[in-house]
This record gives sequence, C-alpha cells and structure tokens, in this order.
Amino acid sequence: MAKNRNAYRCDSCGAVLSKWAGQCPECREWNTVNEFVAEASAPGRFAGFAGQLGNEVKDLSSVGDAEVTRLEVGVGELDRVLGGGIVPGSVILLGGDPGIGKSTLLMQLTAALAGRVPSLYVTGEESLQQLGMRARRLGVALDSIRCLPETAVEQILGHAEQEKPQLMVIDSIQTVYTENLASAPGSVAQIRESAAALVRWAKRNQCCVILVGHVTKEGALAGPRVLEHMVDSVLYFESDGGSRYRVVRAIKNRFGAVNELGMFAMTGTGLKEVKNPSAIFLSGHEKPVPGSVVTVVREGTRPILLEVQALVDPSHLNNPRRVALGLEYNRLAMMLAVLHRHGGIALAEHDVFINVVGGIRVSETSADLPMLLALVSSLQDRPFPDGLVCFGEVGLSGEVRPVPDGEQRLKEAAGHGFKTAVVPSANRPRKPIGDLAVVGVDHVRDALDRAFSPARRRP
Ligand code: TYD
Ligand code: MG
Repeated sequence: MAKNRNAYRCDSCGAVLSKWAGQCPECREWNTVNEFVAEASAPGRFAGFAGQLGNEVKDLSSVGDAEVTRLEVGVGELDRVLGGGIVPGSVILLGGDPGIGKSTLLMQLTAALAGRVPSLYVTGEESLQQLGMRARRLGVALDSIRCLPETAVEQILGHAEQEKPQLMVIDSIQTVYTENLASAPGSVAQIRESAAALVRWAKRNQCCVILVGHVTKEGALAGPRVLEHMVDSVLYFESDGGSRYRVVRAIKNRFGAVNELGMFAMTGTGLKEVKNPSAIFLSGHEKPVPGSVVTVVREGTRPILLEVQALVDPSHLNNPRRVALGLEYNRLAMMLAVLHRHGGIALAEHDVFINVVGGIRVSETSADLPMLLALVSSLQDRPFPDGLVCFGEVGLSGEVRPVPDGEQRLKEAAGHGFKTAVVPSANRPRKPIGDLAVVGVDHVRDALDRAFSPARRRP
C-alpha cells in the first residue's frame, strides 16, 4: 500500500508541488501554496472495473445521426447562450460575482421549466425560508420548485435517485463536500471530487446539472481550473458595477457557439430579458462629444452596437498611463504605434484611457478602427458627425482590413437609425442598405480623413 506523504498544493489552481513556494509556479498566485497529506490511493477503490467491461468499442458510423433533443428553457436569452436549450445529461457551470443574480436566474429557470420537467434545486448557501422569500418576490408558484438544503454530495445524489429530476441546480459547488475526503468544504480537492461525482451522475442519469460557482476578486472561477474542463459549458454572469444590466456569456460550450451573449436587466421582480441590447449600450449623448464613437461588434451570432470612448490627456508622469477597459490592452498599444507610424500622431506624452460603455468586453478585432478614431477625436477635441458608426481591423502597416459579417453589422446600424458608416472597403455591401451611406477605407490615413467629414466626400 502506498504511504501517505507530505506534498504541497496550490489552492488556486490545484497544482501539486514537491516543495513549498511563496508563488505558485503554475498560476503565479501568491500565498496559495499549502501543505497537505497526499491521500494514499486505497487498494480496491477501482475494483469495480476488474474483469468487467462496461462500454463497447464501436465505429462512429454505427452511431445514429439523431440530433440531440434540447430542452428549451423558455427564457429566450438563456436558450440563445446555451445554443438552443439545455442538452440532457450536460453539466453547466455558472460563474459570477456575489449578488449578481445567479440564484435568481436559476430559480426563474427552474420555475420556467416547472410542469414540463421535474427539477431539484439544491441549496447549500441559503435556507428554505430565504428561497421562499425570493420565490414570492419573483412571483413564481411556490409548489413548482422542489428544494433540498444539503451540502453532502452523497446525500444530494441519494435524494436525486429518488426524485429523478431532469434538471438539478447545485447552489453553490463551493459549499458541497464529499465524505470521502478529509479536507474542508470549499478546498480544491473537495470541489474537484464533488463536481466529479455530480458529473458522473448527470451523464449516467441523463440529467442536466447546473453548478453555481463563485468568482474570485480577479474574476476567475474560484476553485481549480480543472472544474472548467470537467463540465460541458461554462457561463459567466457579468455586470458593470452599479448597472442593472446583466450579461450571461458562454466561454465554453460543447453544444453551441461560444461568446454568445444573453442580456438581462435586474428589476424589483427578478431578471427580465433584454431583447434589443443595442439600444442599451449606447450612452445617448444629446449631441456628439469628442472621444466617443459607435461601433458594431459581433458577439456570438448577433451584432451589437457599442460605444467606444477614449480620453487622451497630457501626462505629468514619466511613464504615461495606458488603461483599456473592455478592450484588449495589447491592441491599444498596437493602435498607438500604428497611429504614430502611419497617421503621424504621437501620444507618447499623453495618458490614454479607453473604455467600452456598458461594461461589455470586446474580444474581436473589429474594434481596432473605432478605438483609433476615438483616440484621435479625443486628442484633437473633434467630435464625429452625428449618426456615424465604424468598424474594421487595423493591421501593423496601417491597412484597414475587412471583418466577418460586414453586411449584418451594417443592417444593425441602419436599423438603429445610423446615417453613415466608415468601414473597410471590402465590407461595402453590394446593394445599398436603407439610406445608410457607406464609406469604404483602405488605410488609417484614409479613415482619419474621411471619418471626420464623411458627408463632403461620398464614395
Ligand atoms: P442573488 O440571485 O441572490 O445573487 P447571487 O446568487 O449571484 O449571489 O441576487 C441578489 C441580488 O439581486 C440582491 O442584491 C437583490 C437583487 N434582487 C433584485 O434586485 N430583484 C429581485 O427580484 C431579486 C430576487 C433580487
Ligand atoms: Mg446565490
């Protein structure tokens, strides 16, 4: 039998080390490495496998082409993020800051499925009274939700065997523990083992399990990253500080597209879907202001109008500040270099701040051109004409490159009453879109020239 030995483990990422370190070499977190006693693998733990083979080896061709039948939730924005509904037997991890509305969303989901799908809401954080209060506030039928206050995973699965739910919510995975391990609930080993037990059960019983996960100060899911690998989908519930708008984003989805967004607004009676998100992310200035430009990004399958804001201000620091919120810092640095080299505009002695209104994070390159134009607009204190929208990728030689689905983006802009679009030449539509004037540009110099006075020089 293997001997127990001392080892060290990082509480943040779960890496096992042979000696203590102040900083984890894997995830670079400080003060997270702690000693633990490596549990000797007990003989006979896997005895069930000896001599008996469960699954057969098959050709993929022998597997039918039947589509997975998805369970439509009935909450459109959530269905969209999940790729058209919940897949039976899938495990979903829902992460988010405390108080953002994870429990509210899941209670509304359970209620929306009531009558169609047997579900079980397991709570390890709140009492049944608290759940009852929330349910009353949301106005859902109290008898439509089966609840279980429990944190031991063996007990949870025991109850689940009896209840036979098709949807089980575990709120939250950090409170769940397994009696097989001695470590405290919430520790990496506990989270991993409990989640593994739940995943196994979900797959065997074709039950969809939704795990609620807490998020650390840095914005990552608390607990080992391995949790993200174990589940089928990872959703993040995000919001911008004080805003009442909430965004659900799929960052991993084995059954659908990633980066799909679902929008909600938190109201006095729960979360309401936002069907037309473009409208809420524009800050609605009465007249054009310098440093602000509207762009169309494509998140998942839907185009969204967003406002990119820049503030360029003379710096008194030796190392002027560069801050990018909602956009990638490295792309900002790149745009500053392109602006200098190919636009002849130097910002080496300016603090530069760039922000996307509404707390949305943009990960695609179509925001390059708007970022660059917003910087110049702020520096020169020149607002863009009213009703102007722009998008496009900018390359290192100053060329403006096309982005996917240009036409869809332009239609979204036209639908919201925009009059002029400055876009990469290759993204100009073949047929006119409403009365939207589309200005095609090939180089940043071209873009700078025409964005500020598009009306004078039509293509
Ligand atoms: P909750 O779902 O408990 O958040 P989480 O589970 O992510 O920690 O939501 C808590 C917040 O939402 C709380 O601050 C109150 C607010 N809220 C509303 O504004 N309206 C509502 O109808 C409900 C139920 C909550
Ligand atoms: Mg909660």
